[in-house]
Amino acid sequence: MFLAVPGAFADALTQTPRQTEGPFYPTQLPLDTDNDLIVINDGLTPAVGEITWISGKILDARGEPIRNALVEIWQCDAKGVYLHSGSANGAKRDSHFQGFGRFLTGSTGEYLFRTIKPVPYPGRTPHIHYKVKRTGKELLTTQCYIKGEPQNDNDGVLRGIRDAKAKESVIVPFTPLKDSRAGELAARFDIVLGLTPEA
Ligand SMILES: [Fe+2]
Repeated sequence: MFLAVPGAFADALTQTPRQTEGPFYPTQLPLDTDNDLIVINDGLTPAVGEITWISGKILDARGEPIRNALVEIWQCDAKGVYLHSGSANGAKRDSHFQGFGRFLTGSTGEYLFRTIKPVPYPGRTPHIHYKVKRTGKELLTTQCYIKGEPQNDNDGVLRGIRDAKAKESVIVPFTPLKDSRAGELAARFDIVLGLTPEA
């Protein structure tokens, strides 16, 4: 039986680059902070937008899964409005969109969110903000992008990632979810942290 040597893939893993937190981390967290951003608590009206299941693994520099990583995402609603007092067009905000969610990883390092496909807003190509914490410490703040978005090439934040491989690592395909009659999408975004669990 072949046993992989720890560290054997270290060279192949691209560390996920840091990206600015931006100005719209929620000023006040929503009442519901679970991993389903489409429905708030037991609400009956879902958020407006293209439903997307986004998942991935939180890995250390050697490719080992990181458990107990708190993954947070936040993004604007289908009209480009954030859950933030300083967001433009606040009055138009989709009150059914959670805007923020959290997931605590288990032993596999996997996380999962149900959210909407991000949309552009003035000055930015579509993106989802990510923050990874562990035992209260912030480990990484970054953003995830959609492959093939024409505005990616003109986005100042995305272009700020100089290393081509690092930039590629935060741009992922959003593809139709197999057998979804509702036209849902799926995306996969793995996050590689520049640390080992004991570090
Ligand atoms: Fe943003």
